[in-house]
Amino acid sequence: MSAVILTPSLVRTPNGARPADGRARVRLQSANAREALATSAQRCGATLGTLDKDAEDAPLPSNGWHWSLAHDAEWAAGIVHRGPVGIDLERIAERRPELVAPVLSEAERALLGPFDWRGFMRLWTAKEAVLKCAGVGLGELSQCRLAAPPTPDVMLLAHRGATKLVRHAFAGDHVIAVHAPGTDWTVAWPSECLVPA
Ligand SMILES: CC(C)(COP(=O)(O)OP(=O)(O)OC[C@H]1O[C@@H](n2cnc3c(N)ncnc32)[C@H](O)[C@@H]1OP(=O)(O)O)[C@@H](O)C(=O)NCCC(=O)NCCS
Repeated sequence: MSAVILTPSLVRTPNGARPADGRARVRLQSANAREALATSAQRCGATLGTLDKDAEDAPLPSNGWHWSLAHDAEWAAGIVHRGPVGIDLERIAERRPELVAPVLSEAERALLGPFDWRGFMRLWTAKEAVLKCAGVGLGELSQCRLAAPPTPDVMLLAHRGATKLVRHAFAGDHVIAVHAPGTDWTVAWPSECLVPA
């Protein structure tokens, strides 16, 4: 049987569209992410219904399709899939030092190799994609761990007793992570993305 192809989509925040009010900024990002979601749905032939979420803010399946979103000031991403799915994106940049320890254990440092922010943000987005797919968010961050040395576009994590495959691509200075259960799936990245060889 051939691998399932996941179809994430990205939307860039229009230049200058940066409302001063923080809540308005997030509303705009959320709206952009839903645009990306609609494109992802088109790409995989899904017809979505209402987009409801549970008490933890986790997306509920719509017309039988699972979905996941991520957004920041520059990019919004959406993905639709027949089964559970998670997506995350982050800008690759130096972060506050106190953010590192909760994400990166000593055992993970040994697997990742010499520290750099690109590797760190790959791990961070991989964990968020896995946790979003499980519908749990950051509450289980410490239970989601890198399980093997990464390749340029793949990370294997351990969470809830299973190995979790994450695929990465890059858009400008951002990294995007996609996770779905199992291993028999690949990603048709949108044209904005580059996948390192
Ligand atoms: C889910 C979570 C990892 C999102 O991370 P983030 O960097 O803030 O935001 P992202 O842009 O990556 O993702 C936002 C999207 O995640 C989705 N999301 C939120 N909670 C989710 C959950 N529990 N499971 C799956 N997806 C979730 C939403 O669709 C949201 O977009 P929307 O509000 O426009 O619908 C994080 O907010 C979280 O852990 N939430 C759980 C509640 C919690 O622990 N809150 C305290 C945070 S310290």
